[in-house]
Order: sequence, then structure tokens, then C-alpha cells
Amino acid sequence: MPRILTGITTSGTPHLGNYVGAIRPAIAASHAPGVESFYFLADYHALIKVNDPARVQRSTLEIAAAWLACGLDPDKVWFYRQSDIPEIPELTWLLTCVAAKGLLNRAHAYKAAVDRNTADGDDPDAGVTAGLFMYPVLMAADILLFNADKVPVGRDQVQHIEMARDIGARFNHLYGEHFTLPQAAIEEHVATLPGLDGRKMSKSYDNTIPLFCSRSELKKLIAGIVTDSRAPGEPKDADASNVFELYRAFATADETAAMRKAFADGIGWGDAKQQLFERIDAEIAPLRERYAHYAETADGVAEVERLLRAGAVKARVLAASLLMKLRTAVGLRDLRANGETQVVAKPRSAMPQFKQYRESDGKFYFKLIDGDGRVLLQSIGFASPKEAGAIVAGMKAGTNAADAYEGSVVRVAGVDDADIVEALRQLQQVD
Ligand code: TRP
Repeated sequence: MPRILTGITTSGTPHLGNYVGAIRPAIAASHAPGVESFYFLADYHALIKVNDPARVQRSTLEIAAAWLACGLDPDKVWFYRQSDIPEIPELTWLLTCVAAKGLLNRAHAYKAAVDRNTADGDDPDAGVTAGLFMYPVLMAADILLFNADKVPVGRDQVQHIEMARDIGARFNHLYGEHFTLPQAAIEEHVATLPGLDGRKMSKSYDNTIPLFCSRSELKKLIAGIVTDSRAPGEPKDADASNVFELYRAFATADETAAMRKAFADGIGWGDAKQQLFERIDAEIAPLRERYAHYAETADGVAEVERLLRAGAVKARVLAASLLMKLRTAVGLRDLRANGETQVVAKPRSAMPQFKQYRESDGKFYFKLIDGDGRVLLQSIGFASPKEAGAIVAGMKAGTNAADAYEGSVVRVAGVDDADIVEALRQLQQVD
């Protein structure tokens, strides 16, 4: 199954450009059969640009809430927060040790900073953090850790995907074929939205329309879109109009054709903007309510946090298992292991195991215990042994949806996620 993976840097508030360019197509793609989708909040990347902790936290919530409100199904996709996956920074280091510094010198963002400094007569690296310089390696770790095949990104990120390929290929060459080499998927037919001033909608131009502003604010912002001064009745060129371009991103083909005709017939800017407003609002209004739940209520926020943590547990089962192989491959090994062989197997008795049983309430339960007999997970009661067995099988195979991890087990006090992940990883290696 092809794996699609993409990250969203948690440094701002989602706007209509993000919705049309990334969120809407990604969610549509995730519903297609025969693909595995990984979407994650790139909060480590945010730290490279943002030094305001409250903003990183708020943006992480807003972006997660936006994706959920727009219909992302966390049971169908892998949805997690980068900083919940310690294997990502660990892999970043392994990759750092094989990444050519010269390759990183050529990264667009870093080079642009150096060129600016040089032009200003400053030290070439003035104001450049090592984080900015290392940005492509962290991104390579995001991608390679999950062996993604395709990475949907904007054009500005294509170079980063090529670097991930380079770094992955170098690692494979040195240590064996561990990584799938990813390809950038640029969505040709996805629109780049114009912002309020006609330039590309972007936070850096301060010309955005927030995805989840109120109805009245949406109306006000649309009224402020820059247009030419043609009067009502004068024919207008749809193809040169940002109002039309925005309309087209939300309308059906028929509606778009009708609007094109209205432009030729001289629709007034006020009317065109009113129709644009109604069209966008019709699509966003139902999502706005769900967004308000996730982003603005205590229950909703707790739900987002819970979903992200469950997503991380699920993702870490994959991540931990690959990292284990990589550590062995590079020589970070159990001292008792000899040569190229894998780590010495733990004695059978030290393996974690699932225990299934029936309680006096007539229901069927399971628990996961570690090698020392400590209970790591305790299930809820199931009506039949088959139901309990199916969840256990899914956990052993690593194929359960995130809610199986969250909805069918009760947290045991004092047990760390990492212990659960490690136990499941061990079981999956045996299988
Ligand atoms: N750098 C990407 C951006 O700014 C975000 C990102 C981080 C990402 N890690 C990723 C995208 C991995 C794709 C895959 O848009």
C-alpha cells in the first residue's frame, strides 16, 4: 500500500489558502481506498521560526482542531504530533551523521539567509541558527522514519524532499536498504489562493482570511479584497480577478461558469463579493461549529489531546521497530550481540504477553503484561471473546485504529506510554 505522509508546521492560524491548498485535498485523498495516510503536526519545525511558546501551543491546537473539523478521520489515518515521537529526533541524529554539510549549504532557506547577509555586508551566518541549517535533516527523519512513498508538498518544499532522498540513499548505501526513498507529490490541479491584496495568500504577506473567523468577519474581510475600479455594468475580466479566483476554488463547475458570465455582463464588485462570501460561508459554516468544539471548549481540547496521544502510541509502534533495526545497523548494539547478528533475544519468559479471561460479570477481558508480570494495559469488558480477541490480534499486528488503543483499554496508573510501545514492539517482532 502506498504511504502518503505530510507535516504541517505549527506556527500560525489556518487560513483559507491552507484549506484549499492542503487540508481539503489531503482529507479527500485520505478517503481513497488503498493508501495509508500519515498527517502530523510539525511542532519541532515550528521552534525553528517561533520563539513564543504560547503561539506554538495555540497553533498546534488550532491546526489539529482544523483538520479534525474538516473531516480528518483519526481512525483511518495516522494523525500525530511530531514531538510525541522521540524516535524522530533520534533518527535526526543518525541522519545528521551521514548528511553532507555541502548539501545543507545549498538548501534554499539557508542560502537565502546567507545571500541576504552577504548583500548587507554582514557575517554570512548572522542570525542563522543551527536549527535553520538542520531543518532539512529533521524533515528527512519525519519522512524516512515511516518509509513514506509520496509526500504532498508545495513547490517550495520540493528541494527538501530531494534532500531526504539523498540522505536516505546515503544511509542505505552505508548500512543496508532500510529506507524507502520518497517522492514529492505536487498537486498540479490544486489552486494557490490569492490573498486580500492579490498576491498569494500567505501569513508572511499578512493578506490571509482565517479559515475559522466568524461569519461577520469573513464578510468584512471579503469586502476588503482589492479590486480594480470598474463600475457596475462594465464588463470585467474573470481571469484577471482575485475575487473570481477565490470563487472558483469553492464553487462547482456550473457555478463557476455562471460567475464567469456574470463578470462578462458587468456584475458589480459588491455583488460579486456578496456571492463569494455566501459560497465560502456555505462550505465553512458546518465546519465552524465542529472547530469551535475542538478549539474552544475544555472537552474538545481534551479530546484533541487524547487523539494525538493515541495517534502517537500507534505511530511509535512502527517508529520504535525501525529505530531498533537502525541502531543495530549503525553499531549501537547490545554488547552481547556478535558481529552482524541482531540483538541477543530476550529469554522467552521476559516477553510481554496478552492474557485473555472472563470475569464474574460475564464479560470478556484482556490485559497486556510485561516480562515481569506488570500490567501495562487493561481492557474494558467485551460481550464476546471474539471481540476482545480481534483487538488483541490488531495490537499484535500493529493494524488497529487509534481508537482501539484508546477506546478499548483503560490506562493503568503509573504506566508510561513508552513501556506500552516497547511491549507491543517486542510482540510484533516475534510475529
Ligand atoms: N517543512 C514543511 C513545510 O513547512 C513541513 C514539514 C515538516 C513536512 N516535516 C515534513 C512536510 C515532512 C512534509 C513531510 O511546509
